[in-house]
Amino acid sequence: MNVPPKPNSYRTGPDDRGRFGIYGGRFVAETLMPLILDLEKAYAEARQDSAFAKEMTGYLTHYVGRPSPLYFAERLTDHFGGAKIYLKREELNHTGSHKVNNVLGQILLARRMGKKRIIAETGAGQHGVATATLCARFGLECVVYMGAVDVARQAPNVFRMKMLGAEVVPVQSGARTLKDAMNEALRDWVTNVGNTFYCIGTVAGPHPYPGMVRDFQSVIGDETRSQMHEAEGRLPDSLIACVGGGSNAIGLFHPFLDDPTVEIYGVEAAGHGLTKLHAASIAGGRAGVLHGNRTYLLMDDDGQIQEGHSISAGLDYPGIGPEHSWLNDIGRVKYLSATDDEAVAAFQLLSKIEGIIPALESAHALAKVADLAPTKPRDHLMVVNLSGRGDKDVPQVAEILGTKL
Ligand SMILES: Cc1ncc(COP(=O)(O)O)c(C=O)c1O
Repeated sequence: MNVPPKPNSYRTGPDDRGRFGIYGGRFVAETLMPLILDLEKAYAEARQDSAFAKEMTGYLTHYVGRPSPLYFAERLTDHFGGAKIYLKREELNHTGSHKVNNVLGQILLARRMGKKRIIAETGAGQHGVATATLCARFGLECVVYMGAVDVARQAPNVFRMKMLGAEVVPVQSGARTLKDAMNEALRDWVTNVGNTFYCIGTVAGPHPYPGMVRDFQSVIGDETRSQMHEAEGRLPDSLIACVGGGSNAIGLFHPFLDDPTVEIYGVEAAGHGLTKLHAASIAGGRAGVLHGNRTYLLMDDDGQIQEGHSISAGLDYPGIGPEHSWLNDIGRVKYLSATDDEAVAAFQLLSKIEGIIPALESAHALAKVADLAPTKPRDHLMVVNLSGRGDKDVPQVAEILGTKL
């Protein structure tokens, strides 16, 4: 149920210059500018083309396995004794997370543009796996940049990408995590401008990426809207999703931004705590420019980017998508944060109580459900985006819990 934006809408951004308020934009090297303009044009054309939409829907249905279910979590609801909790089950998608929705869109676009070589950056490895998967499906060369620290902590996903035929390049600079992988991917793109398409994994980067990735992920919120109508005959009362760069969150939120009765919560990673090591760019950052856009960033007093920390490799990015920065400033979305310990507790709770092992990223959203749900009445309808499954995190959580596998 795709609802068109209302007058005075929160859903019409970005503007022509790629801005959401003072955020977003296109801060890139001169050599990249023609490529970015090409991409903007190709996406604008594809958006108007019903053949592109049809192709996308076909693969989403038959390859990805959409629609993903909206599942009433009865035991979790009883456990908290407040809001009626529904889980949007993105972890059931092919490749195990929401990342595949966006990758499919970008790979179909790359094919339209005649690009044969795909590069990507990845943190937890889910975006890398999704990219490697679709490159295998369409016979495209695939190179994935991944921080060396993430290569070590997400070994199963590294192996998966290699099985799928991708080259995984461990990045040794900086903190050797997602930010550094993105730097390296941008460097590759500048060097190989002719044949290469950069498939960005979240709603960050230069315009048109934040808006384009959001559009591809909005299938999550569009489905939620019609599924909730089917299940309960009305809109949900609240939405909750974890925020790394913010693609699973904006995908759920965007179709509901103009519905004033719907409360919306994004959950950043508070790591060891907001006064210690964390990755909560909104709670602990300020506006600056990184990876081609202006947004909230973790910075020191001199404006140098600080390393983000989270137990979850998908959330430790020191920035956030520019649309989220804007939604925070205008107050439409409330940004909370969950610590590593809270996420591990939520990871265990959902596993035991619903038989669903969530990704550590998604566990951050679930951790705040523990705070919010008990404060709501029993007829409050709450939707949590279960952005991915936790198989990739099992070895890490086992180690934290002192179990030798
Ligand atoms: C399962 C899962 N959820 C969430 C995220 C965070 O990304 P985003 O904020 O773009 O949804 C990641 C990133 O790797 C992920 O793998």
